Amino acid sequence: MNTCVVGLQWGDEGKGKIVDILAEKADIVVRYAGGANAGHTVVIGDKKFALHLLPSGSVRPGTKCVIANGVVLDPDCLTGEIDSLAKQGITLAGRLFISQNAHLVLDYHKTEDQLRESSLGAGKIGTTIRGIGPCYADKVGRSYAVRAADLTDLDTLKQKLNKIVAHKNKIFAALYKAEPMNADEIFNKCKVYADKLLPFITDTTQLLHNAISQKKSILFEGAQGTLLDLDHGTFPYVTSSNASSLGMSSGCGVPAKYVDKFIGIAKAYTTRVGEGPFPTELYNEIGSYIRERGHEYGTTTGRPRRCGWFDAVAVRYSVTIGGIDSIALMHLDTISGIEKIQICGAYRIGSEESVFFPCNIAQLAKAEPVYQTVDGWDDDLSQMKSFDDLPENAKRYVGLIEEFTGAPVSIVGVGPKRSQTITR
Ligand code: GDP
Ligand code: IMO
Ligand code: MG
Repeated sequence: MNTCVVGLQWGDEGKGKIVDILAEKADIVVRYAGGANAGHTVVIGDKKFALHLLPSGSVRPGTKCVIANGVVLDPDCLTGEIDSLAKQGITLAGRLFISQNAHLVLDYHKTEDQLRESSLGAGKIGTTIRGIGPCYADKVGRSYAVRAADLTDLDTLKQKLNKIVAHKNKIFAALYKAEPMNADEIFNKCKVYADKLLPFITDTTQLLHNAISQKKSILFEGAQGTLLDLDHGTFPYVTSSNASSLGMSSGCGVPAKYVDKFIGIAKAYTTRVGEGPFPTELYNEIGSYIRERGHEYGTTTGRPRRCGWFDAVAVRYSVTIGGIDSIALMHLDTISGIEKIQICGAYRIGSEESVFFPCNIAQLAKAEPVYQTVDGWDDDLSQMKSFDDLPENAKRYVGLIEEFTGAPVSIVGVGPKRSQTITR
């Protein structure tokens, strides 16, 4: 059984938690897109892990982990994450596999992300400043890209970095009057990364296809969310990869026909970090209530997340383009205590009412949510173990989400812990 888990909103839906739970039955967990912009939280007992590059399965000692070609890999962040797990007694030796084709995020990518965002002022995207956009741009541009495989030939890498850094310095000086970067310094860091990462670098496409022929169970872990997909999301307020399930195949070399189940993760409300239209955003005390109860502060940047009602137009779109078989609905516990809950089932744009999500942000910015209002519940859901235990109003709310999105809700989250998960 191979499963792909993706976010259906603007990220932070709780992918880490679900991947950790499903990883119990998986032989291999694969990250296939994004980079250290992701922040996936796994809570095991009293321990909380915030993973940026390592797949969420890495906290399970027997699970193999793949960082595939579609990921942009920040070696500084990854080596830090490997060391930090080692300090907690979790070793990756012999079970982490990094694609030789994964592109490396180096210092000049992070610098460029920072310089560009600052120069854009109010027009900024609100990126995580992790160098994601600049690294993917170099990948597409080809001439100034560095891949994991380059760490195997340091002499050639040195020459390459001299050429790249000279090129970047000219651009940064001309556009931003920035101080020049030092190619030797970046190369010296790469030598350290090579020492630490070479044992893990391999042909992960071959590894995954061998696993498929041996009928191993593979779990594909999406990062970000479908609405942040470069092609299918709310461009330009998106990330620079195909964060929907559509990015899985190109991101790891495995055709979608080998995936038995696509699980979409959504919160029982909506959050977004960074800029961009958000039709159901709440600017009132209910938004603050959700933010505080749900601890809605970024795992990667610590920024407060913008909070709003569940947008079924957006999630239905994500379900449709993602081929989603079922939804894991997280944070149902967070919206306890709200007297009247609203759910957006359509948009009014001008005089038209539509249930199809417009990716054109000029249209989306004009969208007024058409809400259905349902009665809330006061009960504490955090100890409930079965769907039948839930209050009737909560069950009705879940039913309405199924009706509006067209997908069954197979998992309900009632807290951050593994045990706070209801499977139907
Ligand atoms: P990801 O990026 O999709 O992996 O999600 P994040 O880890 O960035 O954010 C999700 C947050 O919600 C984390 O702090 C989780 O521990 C927490 N969480 C996940 N599921 C639930 C749930 O059902 N209820 C509550 N209260 N917290 C949850
Ligand atoms: P996980 O995997 C939430 C958002 C940023 C910004 C936009 C572009 O934890 O769900 P980038 O740094 O990628 O160029 O930023 O995308 N963003 C995320 N928002 N969760 C994430 O990842 C995100 N990764 C990127 O806030 O709006
Ligand atoms: Mg996150």
